[in-house]
Amino acid sequence: MENTNHDDYIVVKAKEQGVQVIGLTRGQDTRFHHTEKLDKGEILIAQFTDHTSAVKIRGKARVMTKHGIIDTDE
Ligand code: TRP
Repeated sequence: MENTNHDDYIVVKAKEQGVQVIGLTRGQDTRFHHTEKLDKGEILIAQFTDHTSAVKIRGKARVMTKHGIIDTDE
């Protein structure tokens, strides 16, 4: 895939039980292809890939990226 940098990681830290990190497919078709459930305090470190171009987060979490830190409940 041209001009696609997969080097950066995002970090998601669950601030409550059962936070969902949902991977959305890359390309014309946008659908969920994976859901990862996190317990309170658990951390997921993840990269975007050829298969994943967007991530949706359900629940209270802290999301850390190179763009900054965002809390879903703010
Ligand atoms: N399948 C879409 C794509 O690869 C997924 C996507 C990327 C998306 N960015 C988005 C969907 C922003 C909604 C909003 O482009």
